[in-house]
Amino acid sequence: MNILAFESSCDETAAAVVRDGRQVLSSVVFSQVDMHRIYGGVVPEIASRSHLEVIAPLAGEALRQAELTKNDIDAVAVTTAPGLIGALLVGVSFAKSVACALDVPLIPVHHIRGHIAANYIAFPDLEPPFLALMVSGGNTLLADVRDYTDLSVLGSTRDDAAGECFDKIARVLGLGYPGGKELDRLAQGGDDTAYPLPRAHVTDAPLDMSFSGLKTAVINLIHNAEQKGETLDLPGLAASFAAAVSDTLVSRTMLALEQLGYDTLVAAGGVAANSRIRTDLERAAAGKRLFLPPLSLCGDNAAMIGAQAWYEYRAGRRADLSLNARAVCDAAAF
Ligand code: KG4
Repeated sequence: MNILAFESSCDETAAAVVRDGRQVLSSVVFSQVDMHRIYGGVVPEIASRSHLEVIAPLAGEALRQAELTKNDIDAVAVTTAPGLIGALLVGVSFAKSVACALDVPLIPVHHIRGHIAANYIAFPDLEPPFLALMVSGGNTLLADVRDYTDLSVLGSTRDDAAGECFDKIARVLGLGYPGGKELDRLAQGGDDTAYPLPRAHVTDAPLDMSFSGLKTAVINLIHNAEQKGETLDLPGLAASFAAAVSDTLVSRTMLALEQLGYDTLVAAGGVAANSRIRTDLERAAAGKRLFLPPLSLCGDNAAMIGAQAWYEYRAGRRADLSLNARAVCDAAAF
């Protein structure tokens, strides 16, 4: 079954054709990063307009690269939540019109389920049940993936997503947007004990996380140094910050794994590209089955939406033309 999938939840417009959930026939991504960089973050209105301009040509390009015509498409899939509402609506509206015109089923896909499904593409032998650590610019959570379409949130951030902290700190350091990758690079060779930084714990919710205090601590440290004319050890600061984020994520992950009694762990999302987090997970999960997606599948793409859509379709999930987008990641809908 060939699924034409769309993703437009934030600042990447993407289209892909995926066969039977695991075989990617094409995957094209148009990144808007250059448009948002001068503002230091995503401007929702600019994002929506750009999605609108490129989504139709991208659909054509996805078909061309898959060497298929529109008549070879058996279903259309689209990210419906969570994300920027205007951005999501472009993808949802376009997918509805394509499904209607081709007279094929329309499959709604949760963005986070999609990130997790990126691993099905990368690892043909991966099957639920497993624990997923999902870390991106907008979300940070641990999910019990009992089956392909039977997932529940075990714990999540109470405030900022981990990627949000990477991006804000990178911005204050003048590393550009999105700065997670640059901060990761800066941390290479840095002393991760150079600055003592807080690791927050949520009372009575041991699997929940909190990153806003850490973000504020680092930003205050930078501003104080500027005001006093002090020179910071920037690689040391970046490494200390990465260690604090990683300690928080990895400790919760290992606790959840123990509670579930699973031996399989999967990482997902843009921040799963972080070298410190990957190294720490590898060390902590020694003896377990650990799946770390290739960097190309960590960020937003439509292939992951097409992969998850196959399993949603098999579970009987369909949408009609009343399908709407949702900005929030409510645990019940997930
Ligand atoms: O999954 P993604 O592309 O978009 C969302 O769904 O949010 O994730 C983007 C996030 C950004 O915050 C970006 O700075 C971060 O992933 N990121 C990284 C790295 N590469 C991307 N954060 C830390 N280290 C990296 N190497």
